[in-house]
Amino acid sequence: MCGIVGYVGDREANNILLSGLKRLEYRGYDSSGIATLNNRGEVSLARKKGKVSELEDELSKNKNSNKIGIGHTRWATHGEPSEHNAHPHRSGDVYLVHNGIIENYKELKEELEGHKFISQTDTEVLAALIDSLYTNDIILKDAVAQALKLVTGTYGIAVVSKREPDTIVVARSGSPLIIGLGKGETFIASDATALIGHTDQAIYLNDGEMAVCTAGAVDLMTLSAQPVSTKVETIANDIQKIQKNGYDHFLIKEIMEQPTSLRSTLSGRLILGENRVQLGGLNLSLAELKDIENIVIVGCGTAYYAGLLASYYIEKIVGNITVDVVVASEFRYRSFYLPKNTVALIVSQSGETADTLACMREIKSRGMKTLGIINAVGSTIAREVDGGVYVHAGPEISVASTKAFTSQASVMIMFGIQVAQAKGVSLEKTSEYVKELNILPKEIETVLKNHRNEIEELSKKYSKYDHALFLGRDTSFPVALEGALKLKEISYIHAEAYATGELKHGPIALIDNRFFEIMIMNDDWLIDKSSSGLSEVNARGGHVIVLTNSSKKFECETTVRIKTKNKLLAPIVLNVLQQLFAYYVSLAKGNEVDQPRNLAKSVTVE
Ligand code: F6R
Repeated sequence: MCGIVGYVGDREANNILLSGLKRLEYRGYDSSGIATLNNRGEVSLARKKGKVSELEDELSKNKNSNKIGIGHTRWATHGEPSEHNAHPHRSGDVYLVHNGIIENYKELKEELEGHKFISQTDTEVLAALIDSLYTNDIILKDAVAQALKLVTGTYGIAVVSKREPDTIVVARSGSPLIIGLGKGETFIASDATALIGHTDQAIYLNDGEMAVCTAGAVDLMTLSAQPVSTKVETIANDIQKIQKNGYDHFLIKEIMEQPTSLRSTLSGRLILGENRVQLGGLNLSLAELKDIENIVIVGCGTAYYAGLLASYYIEKIVGNITVDVVVASEFRYRSFYLPKNTVALIVSQSGETADTLACMREIKSRGMKTLGIINAVGSTIAREVDGGVYVHAGPEISVASTKAFTSQASVMIMFGIQVAQAKGVSLEKTSEYVKELNILPKEIETVLKNHRNEIEELSKKYSKYDHALFLGRDTSFPVALEGALKLKEISYIHAEAYATGELKHGPIALIDNRFFEIMIMNDDWLIDKSSSGLSEVNARGGHVIVLTNSSKKFECETTVRIKTKNKLLAPIVLNVLQQLFAYYVSLAKGNEVDQPRNLAKSVTVE
C-alpha cells in the first residue's frame, strides 16, 4: 500500500529518497514525507499533503546534504490525508515510516499516558511506543524489537534516531521490505522498483525479521535477536521497464505493450512442435497433476476476474474437474472445505495483496498445494507458495491492471492444458488451445493498432454518461466484469456487469437515458442468445456499444468489429478494446489516469 524508502551512504539522501518515492508513488499518493539526519543527529523533516512533487518543491526550498534518511508515500488507513498524518512520524528522538496497520493501537495509546499525539494515525502510536522503551541504556534496535513484541497487526517499518545518526533499523511482519546492497551504501524499499538503477543485489526480509542497516553493512536477525543467515538475491535492473518510453501515461504504455508482455509470458512454455504446454516451477509430479480433482482460484479485483475467466477455459479443456473461483477477502473468513486432491492457484500481480496472502497461508496450512500465478518476482506470495508460474508481464506501474490480466488468464489456461495433458485428454482438444495461445499476442497487436483511434473517438461521446452496464455470456461474462471494473476505477463512471442471461432477473430495470451498455458478442455458439439480450436492451431504449468479432449485423448505437483468427480466446482480444475505452474515457474526463482517486496499486492491508 504505502511506499517506504531509506538510504544510508555517501550521497545526498534527499535525491535518492525522492527518486525512490516517485517510483513508489503508485503505491499511495495522498501525502509523502522524508526525514534525513546529519552526523550530529540534527533532523530535517519535510511532509506534504498530495503528490510527491509537492514534497519535492518543499525540499528544494530547504536543501541539505544529509547522507542518511527515510521516506514514505502514503495511502491513508487511519486519519485523513493531511500533513500531520503524513509519515515520517516523530516521537522524542525517534522517526518512523510504516506500511501496514497496528491493530491494537488504541490499547497501546491508552497505555502511553502523558504522550501528546498530534496525528490520528496508528503509526504515531508505534513511534511513541518505541520512544517510551528507548531509554538511555539501550540502543534503537532493542527498543524497536521490544516495541514490536507488544504490537498486533502488520508492519514494514524503517526507523531512525537522533542518537544513532548512522543507523536505520527496519523490520517486517506482513508488509514487504527489501534491503538493497550497494558499495558503501545501503538502500531500503518496500518494492524492488525503487532500487532499480542503484543496485541489483537485495535481501528480502521475511516476517518476524529485522535488520540494522549502516552504510554498506546489514545485520540481520529475528525480533528475538536470533541471527539470520543472509540470502542475497539478484533483482531485475532494467530501468527502461519502469519508464513511460514516450507514452503519456503508464496505462496506455502497458495496454500497448501487451503483445510483447504476453510473448514473454508464453515464451518457452508453449511446445509448438508437439502442440503441448510445459510449465516449469509447478513442483507437481505427473501423477499429482493427473490426480487433481478440484482447483480453487483465489484473487482480488482484476486478478479474481482473470481467475474467473480462466475457470471457464479450464473446465472446457480438462472436462472432469471442478473449478471454484473465490474473492480472497471473503474466502479467508469462510468455513470452506477443500476436498482431497485440491490445488489452489493464488493469483496476484503484486504478490503482496494482504487478503490473497492470508488465503494462501490458510490453504497451505491445511496441507493443500498452493501455486502462485504472480507477476512481481521475489514478492511475498511468490516466495511462500509451493510452486507456481511467474507471468513475466514486466513491471505494471499504472494502478489499473491491464497487461497482468491478459498474462494471468493465459498462464492459467496453460495450466489447464498441462493438467489436461496429464489426465490424457485428447491432443486434438488441447492443441486447439495451444494454437490459439500462440497467435494471441499477434492478434492483440493487430487489434490495438487498428482500433485505437476508433475507440478514442467513441469514448468522447460516452464519457458524458453517468452509468454503464457491461454484458457478456460464457467466457465474455468475466470479460464484461473486468471491463466494468476498469471503467469505474479510472473514469469514475458507475459501471456494473452482468451475465447477459441475468438481464431479465433485475438489471434490465436500470436501463434509461443515463445509461449506456457495452455488450460483448463473441462469435460462438451462444451468439444468438446474446443477440436476444441485445434486442431486450434495445426495446427499452438502450444505448448499446457492441464489441464483436462476428460478421453479423447488430442493431445498436455503435459496433466495434474486430477481425481475429482467435475464436476460443477471442474474448481476451475483445478485452483490450475495453482497456482502451476506459483509458480514453478517463482522459476525456481529465482524470489522473495512472493514479485514480482513493486507490493504490498494491493492497498490503486488509
Ligand atoms: C484493478 C486492479 C485491482 C487489482 C487487485 C489485486 O485494475 O488493479 O483490482 O487487480 O487489487 O491486486 P494484485 O493482483 O496485486 O493482487
